[in-house]
Amino acid sequence: MSNYFEWNAEIYSVQVPAMDRGHQMIISCMNRLHTQNQAKAPVAQLARIVDELVQVTVKHFNEEETYMASIGFPDLAKHKIIHKTLLGKITEHKAQFDATGKLTDEFFAFLKVWLKAHICGIDIKYGRHRLAA
Ligand SMILES: [Fe+2]
Ligand SMILES: [Fe+2]
Repeated sequence: MSNYFEWNAEIYSVQVPAMDRGHQMIISCMNRLHTQNQAKAPVAQLARIVDELVQVTVKHFNEEETYMASIGFPDLAKHKIIHKTLLGKITEHKAQFDATGKLTDEFFAFLKVWLKAHICGIDIKYGRHRLAA
């Protein structure tokens, strides 16, 4: 069975190894969540993975913001706002899961679109900035 989300360096690498590792951790968490959900794992087990996903995401956003500051990335403030908005949405989905014990298709669709659009559309910019410097 193929993973829910496949890492592909050609498409997703931002050319900053530490940040790529953060993205891979988030992706591996999403894949685990998807697999366990399909396998109808107990809610408590899913809840642990959801918590982990939130934690690795918060950690990654912080690392990314520190990194962008360190290279003098000009769009840092804008990028921070986008992270905040994303975290808000993840928190909403998590609250819904906590209330219902169910992970919806919308939740997985959101994770997938979020990661693709954010890495390829937004994160890639600090990688380019660094390469251009
Ligand atoms: Fe980001
Ligand atoms: Fe990122």
